[in-house]
Amino acid sequence: MSTILRVESLGSGYGELPVLDGITLEVGSGEIVSVVGANGAGKTTLLLTIGGHLRARSGRVVFDGHDITRLPAHAAAERGLVMVPEGGRLFPFMTVLENLELGAYHRSARARQQESLDEVMRLFPILAERRTQLAGRLSGGERQMCAVARALMARPKLLMLDEPSLGLAPIIVDKVFDMVRELVRTKGLSVLLVEQNVGNALRLCERGCIIEHGRILKMARGEDLLRDPDVQRSYMGL
Ligand SMILES: Nc1ncnc2c1ncn2[C@@H]1O[C@H](COP(=O)(O)OP(=O)(O)O)[C@@H](O)[C@H]1O
Ligand SMILES: [Mg+2]
Repeated sequence: MSTILRVESLGSGYGELPVLDGITLEVGSGEIVSVVGANGAGKTTLLLTIGGHLRARSGRVVFDGHDITRLPAHAAAERGLVMVPEGGRLFPFMTVLENLELGAYHRSARARQQESLDEVMRLFPILAERRTQLAGRLSGGERQMCAVARALMARPKLLMLDEPSLGLAPIIVDKVFDMVRELVRTKGLSVLLVEQNVGNALRLCERGCIIEHGRILKMARGEDLLRDPDVQRSYMGL
């Protein structure tokens, strides 16, 4: 399996506060990797730094064969590295369709906007049904679908998902995770997922990492982490 994303000794933080301390991980092409950890462990900071929303203070990010460490987020997105932020961050007073169109903001995605739109409407019929509704009126699950669909409008190679299960009922969480699995299977996408929902995230991924205080504590196959007594005790209440 070829590597689509390689993160080497990545460090970053906010002002005086260091958060990430030497994070190293890899995502293979067509692979799902989950990074799980408690609130405040540095999961969002990791995705923001990889995606170029937050400046790396040390280390490297190599995406699809290119060093993108110093690239701003829009340039990383143009190369195919696209983030779905926590909660989806849709514009609530714009329609579903307008939100989706905003996903195709960079030049090469805009050229294929109609094709992408047809595709996501086919993938998510509920969004086609609700295309003229305000995004703020979507249910939690539909909102997460719409956020993923908007990211797909940017023609990503790798999707970074920030806690897609947050605030959703368990049955809806299962649906969202099924949708991610299906996207990877049918479209050959790669996924870097960060989650506090440790059980679901580790069941979904091939490989998983545990992040604590800005460091990777363990990295292993998801199924092995699920059976790891330390992981069960610390993160799954078992
Ligand atoms: N904008 C910010 N300014 C200052 N500190 C922040 C900011 N965002 C997050 N932090 C701090 O960085 C650490 C990691 O946060 P975060 O990456 O959001 O964790 P997680 O996503 O795992 O819950 C926490 O200590 C948090 O308080
Ligand atoms: Mg977070």
